[in-house]
Amino acid sequence: MENDGEGVSMGKRLAPLIGAVLLLWSAAFMPVKAAEPLDDGLYAVDYELLQGDRDSTSIANDYFEKPALLKVDGDELILQMTLNHSKWVQELQEASGDSFSDVRVVAEDDEADTRVIQLNVSGDLAEPFPLKMHVVIDELEMPYDHSYTVRLAVDESSLKETDQQWVDSIEEGSKIWFFIAVALVVIVAIFVAIRFRRSK
Ligand code: HEM
Repeated sequence: MENDGEGVSMGKRLAPLIGAVLLLWSAAFMPVKAAEPLDDGLYAVDYELLQGDRDSTSIANDYFEKPALLKVDGDELILQMTLNHSKWVQELQEASGDSFSDVRVVAEDDEADTRVIQLNVSGDLAEPFPLKMHVVIDELEMPYDHSYTVRLAVDESSLKETDQQWVDSIEEGSKIWFFIAVALVVIVAIFVAIRFRRSK
């Protein structure tokens, strides 16, 4: 009887100890804590284009300048990057819902043959995401006309804050020109109306 009482109190004393060991053990084997959400701001980040079906670097990687800019605004993550040999990449599409749609072009320089594009990161930044491209090169002896799917892998560990310029969209620019044009038309119309009244 005495022994039983000792056994019960021993068990009671060991219970917290066993609990603590189990807790530490499970913590040690728990997946690494999910990445902290990024602070709003602008970052420079390295990335690589991988082949569609394996993790080797894609031929397309050389045609995308590094690093990219990453804009973080709450849950919204937007990448901005520059393509060299822009004319060769005739179409570039990102996943959009169940299908693919053209990426947004924010700037183009015909002379330098570059184009700045913008991609929305809809999933996890650490997960490579697909890009479809149609490449056409007419000036080769054997014309090159192929469509590919590659995957863009962002190197999260390379993230660093930057004061590099985010390229404002062409649309924003053309909106400003539209307002300037409207303002000019209105000024000219007022001027003509005043002249017309005076001449009466
Ligand atoms: C002088 C220009 C180019 C030549 C001679 C060329 C040649 C080739 C050849 C021979 C392959 C098949 C080799 C393989 O599967 O490993 C290939 C695949 C591929 N090329 Fe091109 N290419 C040229 C330009 C481009 C450009 C401008 C892009 C895109 C920006 C591009 C994107 C790809 C992709 C995505 C593949 C599929 C394999 C991979 O992802 O690496 N290529 N190219």
